[in-house]
Amino acid sequence: MENGTPAGTLRLIHIADLHFGAQADGALVALREALRALGPSLVVATGDLTQRGLPEQLRAARDFLDSIQAPWLAMPGNHDLPVMPWRRLIDPLRDYRRYLSAHTEPRLDGDLLRLAVLDSTDPTAWRAGRLEEAQVRAAADYLSAAAPGQIRIVATHHPFDELNEERRDGMRGAQKALEILCAEGQVDLLLCGHLHQTRIGILRNEGLRCVVGCVASTPTSPRKEAAGEAFVCVDLGEDAITLSPWRLTPDTERFRRVKARHFCRQRDNHWREIEPDLDDEDEA
Ligand SMILES: [Fe+2]
Ligand SMILES: [Fe+2]
Repeated sequence: MENGTPAGTLRLIHIADLHFGAQADGALVALREALRALGPSLVVATGDLTQRGLPEQLRAARDFLDSIQAPWLAMPGNHDLPVMPWRRLIDPLRDYRRYLSAHTEPRLDGDLLRLAVLDSTDPTAWRAGRLEEAQVRAAADYLSAAAPGQIRIVATHHPFDELNEERRDGMRGAQKALEILCAEGQVDLLLCGHLHQTRIGILRNEGLRCVVGCVASTPTSPRKEAAGEAFVCVDLGEDAITLSPWRLTPDTERFRRVKARHFCRQRDNHWREIEPDLDDEDEA
């Protein structure tokens, strides 16, 4: 075991909604400490890295990600687009590419995972997102080439579990995207942000494989809900996923693990949750 990671597993940390420009600085220090203690092999930041998509906010987010002693990948959220309407319509991700990352839909092929990011931002909407069918099919093609034993992951800013696509902050194309990703892409795990609250569980949609969904809350925005856990530690094994939310404890200014949730792949390729842990909480 190294940093609490069981042998034969891969640890990634899922963070979302850092909102640089409106971040709580104390929480940022605690987050950096926790990330160092947990020693992930990868950090995935699912969008809203900034409050208003300004160059200095994007640079600050990039500096923070670079300060983590682990590889990272990120994607834009609705807050990372410029506020000026003409900028949103001409080249909405220009500053994101320039100051944060040249890649808005990065992909990763590792020993235990194959990961595709989908940019769900919609420059014609302030909060809502969208996915285009061709964009989703390209990600599904990539995932379908996974080797046996790789966990197939899709990461987006907007969550899939709000299937009412008419919602002001919902994601257009979510239902169709889920159908394609579950069937053609054989996705196992969906990582999302945007809601500022943690939601972990099996996504059950009629006619589709059951897959694991993980919406991470925000570790650094003062707008986070009082009870919202702040980031999620993801341990991947062979046909197994453990998701452990960590929450900032205000009196100690440190993150504490709340409760681990375990999921396994069944013979029919559906995922299901297994008995929750009764173990103690951890602090980092
Ligand atoms: Fe956000
Ligand atoms: Fe958002």
